Amino acid sequence: MSESAIGQNIIEEETKRRRTFAIIAHPDAGKTTLTEKLLLYGGAIQLAGAVKARKNRKAATSDWMEMEKEKGISITSAALQFEYKNHVLNLLDTPGHEDFSEDTYRTLIAADTAVMVLDAGRGVEPQTIKLFKVCRDRGIPIVTFVNKMDRPTKKMFELLDEIEKVLGITAIPMVWPIGTGVDFSGVYNRVDKKIYTYDKTPGGSQKSAFQSSGIEDTNLDSMFEDWVLKQFREEVELVEEGIAAFSLDEFIDSKITPVFFGSAVNNFGIQLFLDHFLQIAPPPLYFPLKNGDRLDPITTPFSGFVFKVQANMNKAHRDRIAFLRVCSGKFERGLNVNHGRLGKAVKLSSSFAFFGQDRNTVDEAYPGDIIGLVNPGTYSIGDILATGKVPDLKPLPVFAPEIFATLSCVETGALKSFRKGIEQLAEEGILHLFTSQTVGGGLPVIGAMGQLQFEVFRRRLQDEYSAPTNINILPYQVSCWLLEEDIPKVPVGSNLVTDSLGRAALLFDSEWEKGYFQKKNPEIRLLDYPTQD
Ligand code: G4P
Repeated sequence: MSESAIGQNIIEEETKRRRTFAIIAHPDAGKTTLTEKLLLYGGAIQLAGAVKARKNRKAATSDWMEMEKEKGISITSAALQFEYKNHVLNLLDTPGHEDFSEDTYRTLIAADTAVMVLDAGRGVEPQTIKLFKVCRDRGIPIVTFVNKMDRPTKKMFELLDEIEKVLGITAIPMVWPIGTGVDFSGVYNRVDKKIYTYDKTPGGSQKSAFQSSGIEDTNLDSMFEDWVLKQFREEVELVEEGIAAFSLDEFIDSKITPVFFGSAVNNFGIQLFLDHFLQIAPPPLYFPLKNGDRLDPITTPFSGFVFKVQANMNKAHRDRIAFLRVCSGKFERGLNVNHGRLGKAVKLSSSFAFFGQDRNTVDEAYPGDIIGLVNPGTYSIGDILATGKVPDLKPLPVFAPEIFATLSCVETGALKSFRKGIEQLAEEGILHLFTSQTVGGGLPVIGAMGQLQFEVFRRRLQDEYSAPTNINILPYQVSCWLLEEDIPKVPVGSNLVTDSLGRAALLFDSEWEKGYFQKKNPEIRLLDYPTQD
């Protein structure tokens, strides 16, 4: 076998054992708790040296999460990598605050699968719907984990119905819970037809040694209250008769979502979920191209795209990092690549993986992996790097901002760092930065999806650039981009702005105003997204 064939075999093997995924959830549904539990299964926390003793596990493991909470955004890792049963899992860290944030949505694009965590008592919540839509539009398959089964829950069949009605996706339970709330004590696995019960232990729960032969196993009679068992058996019968079996193709096509039930905080049902997940979640074989095809990760030489840019990862390092998702081929440190946007060659000499405050040099990476590159301003969100021809990957979505403000520096002495701060933070893509002759009286105009993004921006300018800033909300609520040839047609007095990439956009007070403008100026095309070529 030739050397290149051996190389391809290794890439194929490594690609197939990878699973790159993100967890989506409405705040408080249990995303952080589930993340912690998954990491513990993978041993990642111990590996990173973050946990020394069991008793301080909580404090230590949530070190990076604490900071995330404190700042309201994800500030450290872009992805956590851990191994489990000979698989390499890349868990993308999606910032989890209440506001609609473009940053969160873009991170999802780097995932091959999403795990949607629902609170069993609350069902499908607003933030879940928004995140779900992004995954669906992108064709990312979604696995559902119904959490907090130990608390009062909705009725299980109603919850499945809600998923179908609100999200428009067929919910296929992979397991079925035995009891809910305080009676929740295990699950029936529809695949192997076995029942998995859980024992409560002082340090959390564990899978019980008990293995049943099936739902009719008489050993179950002594283990559960009569009515719990009766109801469970009836429900399983209904599920098996009325709900189709899981189909991998339909899952990959986002037509169905497999549903698991458990309790993250009690570690009920997590391992079973993870074992199923490895079987059904697609390896990174399907990255979409602009023309609708898929990129072959094994035969295509190295390529990847920047989905996140982060300034000041670590105050001590004061550097900017661009996070790249490997889409094809093998990454090796020191690789010379073509930079699609700049049209020039760059050498990838500083590549890192992050775990909280720790960073490790990455010497090699495979499709699905996330690497951090030191970014002296070379990389922007959406940039594609490749050793061969730069592939035409499906572009990242851009969301039109819905809230706008002017920014001004309160201290003249801090003006220089203020300018540097807005430039670097805007580079992260956490909000849009506009300049304008007409809007904002010459001050920089920022646009976002929600007010919290402004607050985060202000705090970061203060903390990281020592630039105290005033934010004045502007009355606009709608924005749209323009084609270059239409700019001269825009009437004087319109709220014309230019984004950081030099593209023109218009701001309106309301949808009504936008409609009125369009009626008066039918020849001007108003675009929901900027053209990305
Ligand atoms: P999030 O990242 O999605 O916002 O949720 P997070 O994991 O922080 O969980 C929110 C709260 O729900 C936490 O409680 C957490 O302990 C609790 N929780 C998570 N999973 C379960 C579960 O399966 N059952 C029950 N009963 N609770 C669960 P908290 O009081 O806000 O914080 P903490 O002091 O417990 O950490």
